Amino acid sequence: MTDKTKTAQNAMWGGRFAAGPDAIMEAINASISYDRRLAAQDIAGSRAHAAMLAAQGILSTSDAEAIREGLLTVLSEIEAGTFRYSTALEDIHMNIESRLKELIGEPAGRLHTGRSRNDQVATDFRLWVRDQIDAADTGLTALIRALLAQAEAGADWVMPGFTHLQTAQPVTWGHHMMAYVEMFARDQGRLRDARARLNESPLGAAALAGTSFPLDREATARALGFDRPMANSLDAVSDRDFALEFLSAATICAMHLSRMAEELVIWSSAQFRFVTLSDRFSTGSSIMPQKKNPDAAELIRAKIGRILGSTVALFTIMKGLPLAYSKDMQEDKEQVFDAADALMLALAAMTGMVSDMTANRDALKAAAGAGFSTATDLADWLVRTLNLPFREAHHATGALVALAEKKGCDLADLSLAELRTGHPDITEDVYAVLGVENSVASRTSYGGTAPAQVRAQIARWKERLG
Ligand code: ARG
Repeated sequence: MTDKTKTAQNAMWGGRFAAGPDAIMEAINASISYDRRLAAQDIAGSRAHAAMLAAQGILSTSDAEAIREGLLTVLSEIEAGTFRYSTALEDIHMNIESRLKELIGEPAGRLHTGRSRNDQVATDFRLWVRDQIDAADTGLTALIRALLAQAEAGADWVMPGFTHLQTAQPVTWGHHMMAYVEMFARDQGRLRDARARLNESPLGAAALAGTSFPLDREATARALGFDRPMANSLDAVSDRDFALEFLSAATICAMHLSRMAEELVIWSSAQFRFVTLSDRFSTGSSIMPQKKNPDAAELIRAKIGRILGSTVALFTIMKGLPLAYSKDMQEDKEQVFDAADALMLALAAMTGMVSDMTANRDALKAAAGAGFSTATDLADWLVRTLNLPFREAHHATGALVALAEKKGCDLADLSLAELRTGHPDITEDVYAVLGVENSVASRTSYGGTAPAQVRAQIARWKERLG
């Protein structure tokens, strides 16, 4: 046997690795390649912890000062891109602490008093998710403002409303835009609810049982902007509900974005021409010169795939974990990072598209009248004016739709004599309700499509946003 054969027998997967199992252990164990994104939060947490230790007399003032300055140096190195990350040091927590030791020596070793990486990472991650929630909240406000501007510009522009993607009844462009405002505002509400529950501090829970050092958990909680310390140390280190709530809210938001994106894809097609997307948010084809593709909308439509994927992944990671911390939980971060990145990008792209797009009023109007969209108005007229039972009116109208379809015309194009084949008592007055403008104007019930209602909703939202 040559040495070469021996190596292959001993380590079948050895080709990729310089050494044996230790390198593999390092590869599966290390999280520094991604958890470096928690650096700023980790340093903020350590600063709060060190200051509290000093205030409690657990750490000398000079050690605390050395730690504070050292951490600020580490932060500036990270921000400048000069920090050297080491996989051997596993994660961001140990990378930072090790560099701190290089910089300030012995006091660095006192920073971890009364703390564990378990409460440390839980704290860092909460702070990170909290920032993302705030960023998503801001992004949603921008999107809502863009939708409000569209709604205001076309509050009374008629367009077809659909059920089953079949023409149903005329609605207004403003009404359709405002439907999305409601959806995205609910997303904002879910994120805010999640934030309120997230905002408790795990710091000081230590490994799982708390600590015998006289920590002031209220103080560190306050310093980090948390409302209070978490009340149970086992729960503090093993809870990832805050990440799951963020992911769940992000998934619902991504689903809304996907639905809207799908509408933009349909509406921007040559067959619909309801909207024209700006060049800034479209792409061309390398072979078909005439093409202008709604790529941004398509990619937004797809983002739900990875965001929901992350959500499912983290639920699956967390299920069945015994209390308290298990290393499985290290796998939480990449899921949340990826989902957050996808959500922020999708929100920004949708906001850009909505701000830039032009609704084609004429195409919307032409489509609004097609497909017998005022048939319900005709049935309602028969009920209101001739006192027919609705079912009978529905039947008579259906017969008139069939007649118009056969003639290849709209309901409004039927002569009075023809209309009277539906019901002999129909009068000239009926033509008023067959027009789409009258149809939408008549739907004045609260939340309905009448321009007056739409404008009232726009005003309500504008006041709410300030
Ligand atoms: N990198 C780890 C994580 O993200 C930090 C916590 C490690 N704790 C431990 N007991 N090994 O979960």
